[in-house]
Amino acid sequence: MEDRLGSIEEEALRAIEEAKDKDGLEKIKVRFLGRKGLLTEILKGLGRLPKEERPKIGRLANEIKFKIERAITERLDAVLKEAGPRVIRGFDPTLPGRPLPRGHLHPITQVLDEVCEVFERLGFSAAQGPEIELDFYNFEALNIPPDHPARDMQDTFYVDDKVLLRTHTSPIQVRTMEVMKPPIRIIAPGKVYRCDSDITHTPMFHQVEGLMVDEGVSFAHLKGILTHFAQEIFHRDTKVRFRPSFFPFTEPSAEIDIQCVICRGDGCRVCSYTGWLEVLGAGLVHPQVFRHVGIDTEKYSGFAFGLGIERIAMLKYGINDIRLFFDNDIRFLNQF
Ligand code: DAH
Repeated sequence: MEDRLGSIEEEALRAIEEAKDKDGLEKIKVRFLGRKGLLTEILKGLGRLPKEERPKIGRLANEIKFKIERAITERLDAVLKEAGPRVIRGFDPTLPGRPLPRGHLHPITQVLDEVCEVFERLGFSAAQGPEIELDFYNFEALNIPPDHPARDMQDTFYVDDKVLLRTHTSPIQVRTMEVMKPPIRIIAPGKVYRCDSDITHTPMFHQVEGLMVDEGVSFAHLKGILTHFAQEIFHRDTKVRFRPSFFPFTEPSAEIDIQCVICRGDGCRVCSYTGWLEVLGAGLVHPQVFRHVGIDTEKYSGFAFGLGIERIAMLKYGINDIRLFFDNDIRFLNQF
């Protein structure tokens, strides 16, 4: 039996030494150590040996088993090294990688960033304000008197009679002017809340507010900057129209339309056959607003504007239902 074990050992070690690759070594392992392997058979047959031989043969067989296992591991290392860097322990660095699915920014975030960048290139810097706001900043300081329809419970989410969810980003104008003296050039992006929901309204949406205050700021600056903005965001040749309007915190006030991006002005369903789409509210800062923050209305003037990001995104991408932005359907989001 000892001789038999000796020759198994010799045969196995020689075969291992001569093995050329991983497959060859695998076969050797099966031949000697597998379930029906030569060495395994001997270990299984120990019980049939005379009692006094069993421990000696058992120990020897186990030693040989170890030796063969170690020899296989060492040889495997060597053949893998010989095969060069292509295959390192079964890892082939030249195989194409498995792509890791990677997300991207939400379309609203993309448009928000794009809008902010247009103004940042013009020297505006970003400002912030709280989403849970005081009535004072959301209404009072913006010259919206207590009986103004914008305060109607229909539109505003009140927390209590002095605290509410901001209904627009305009309170950031006031907060900024409280702590900053002219020249001021800020934009303020953020979430706003209104109790309203249909295919063009969601209870939460995004606005970007703009404010420029300095000596000699006029309506001409407002027109120049907002025309530039519309042409950067939509199309170089986009036609822009300034229409008289009313906001309590600006005087004069305007709404700014762009020529319909769908029909190019001929009239279609999207523009209600007017050829124009409203994209912005704006105006010269009302002296009453300046008074609240102690800015000298004799020395300084300014303009402000506010725009809805969802609306811009809908027009830019031809989306007809605002709720798609918030359903988080991956088939929709993947398109951006
Ligand atoms: N805050 C207004 C709104 O939510 C938009 C707006 C209009 C902002 C005129 C302005 C502005 O700064 O001058 O509808």
